[in-house]
Amino acid sequence: MKHIKAPRMMGGELLKGIARLIQIAKLYEDNNKLTIAAVKAFRQVVEKCSNGSRHVSLQIFNGRFFLQGKKLPLLRKEAQIFNRMIQFLEKRCIYGFHFNADLKNTAVKEILAFVRFLDLAAQHDDPSEWLKTELEKWDIHWLAIIQEPTLSLRDTSLEHELEQSNELDRKKEAAKKTYLYALNSIKEVAQKLLSDKEVGIRKSVRMIQRMVDITTADASTFFALSTIRTYDDYTYIHSLNVALLAMSLGKRIGMKRKTLEKLGLCGLFHDLGKIEIPKQILNKRGKLTHSEFEEIKKHSVNSALMILKLKTNKYRKVHLFVSPFEHHIRYDHSGYPSVDKTRPISLFGRILTIADVYDAITSPRIYRPTSMSPDEALGLMLSDSGKHFDPVLLKVFINMLGVYPVGTLLTLDTGEIGLALHSSIETDRARPKVQLLNPDVDRQYTSGKIIDLAERDPRTGAYKRNIIKSQHPATLGIQPANFLL
Ligand SMILES: [Fe+2]
Ligand SMILES: [Fe+2]
Repeated sequence: MKHIKAPRMMGGELLKGIARLIQIAKLYEDNNKLTIAAVKAFRQVVEKCSNGSRHVSLQIFNGRFFLQGKKLPLLRKEAQIFNRMIQFLEKRCIYGFHFNADLKNTAVKEILAFVRFLDLAAQHDDPSEWLKTELEKWDIHWLAIIQEPTLSLRDTSLEHELEQSNELDRKKEAAKKTYLYALNSIKEVAQKLLSDKEVGIRKSVRMIQRMVDITTADASTFFALSTIRTYDDYTYIHSLNVALLAMSLGKRIGMKRKTLEKLGLCGLFHDLGKIEIPKQILNKRGKLTHSEFEEIKKHSVNSALMILKLKTNKYRKVHLFVSPFEHHIRYDHSGYPSVDKTRPISLFGRILTIADVYDAITSPRIYRPTSMSPDEALGLMLSDSGKHFDPVLLKVFINMLGVYPVGTLLTLDTGEIGLALHSSIETDRARPKVQLLNPDVDRQYTSGKIIDLAERDPRTGAYKRNIIKSQHPATLGIQPANFLL
């Protein structure tokens, strides 16, 4: 008897079928023998995957493929095609497809048109939206594309499928990807503005919406994201971190989803004006001259002007440009640009000021490889409360981040070192959980176990470990995000 593969085991075949079609469609004409054979093979594999149902759904969720709602097993021999296709689809912001199971009567040219559009989508601003429009325009209805990775969460069969133990890891993976996409979206906006192209912000809006989902679902991942630091692309990473921190502060004071989205976009765009400042001034080691500082000071006004140039609804622009304009004015109006003192700074502006300074002073820069540890930074900011910062908002912000914000490098009295993890309000905020780091031979570190500083010795009742000092992780060349995410 002929052995029939279980549909789940056909997932790899389906992916290979799609990949082959994309390849062949690029190289050969529609009537080429190889093309016809690839289309035929694709039709067959779709049918086999359906296992009798009318549709075949292939979805990406948290970095894995799901066929008919069932997670595909990760076989070593298929790892390469899985990874390649995930990258290919995610680059296009596509999270899967629903195919008709019966493609016998679907014309070869329709199937080829789909794979060609799929390939081309990467060249467009909002790839999945573009693909959807093209499919509609050409009356291609034998498939639907899945544009959101969230769909699967609502699917109870998938929820069941997700193993509890790995769920957190996958969430973190997804969060990290969203972070990187968001970073790309802001880079794209900035680069297009520089080359005077028309700049839409749909991608940025979508990324911010996903970020809001992450804040809502899992605060610790959210804070861990804001510890991502690299020397390259400082302005973009800084902008994204400001967006993350501002949104979490906004959430803390009860802002609703739509408001958080606007606030996130303001954070993302607050330093857009910096792209016009020469790099030698932005990255200058040592003190800036008067004229260099004057140059830097122009950026908040320029950010506002650039936002007004974006190709988006004018009402949205009005919401977006005010707080970037205000982010250096300061609570007591002692900053720049100088404006009428009777005009209060908007709530968004006051939030951005806090998020901006906190991220700036805790970020290592090319000219300042070590920077303040997060707790030192909060201490310094507190001394400027009511002057530089809105005192009430600053209090909420400090409370939110805790005594040792996520990612602070702690040295313990046991000689161990580790990174502070998010402490919940219920626990002692001065005694967070800690991700221990084990030193290697080359002064590299690997993750050790997670310990709780609130843990006591049952015999003596004393705390098992205490903090001796806190430092910025960059002092030991540690990137917290590598351990926390
Ligand atoms: Fe700024
Ligand atoms: Fe900034």
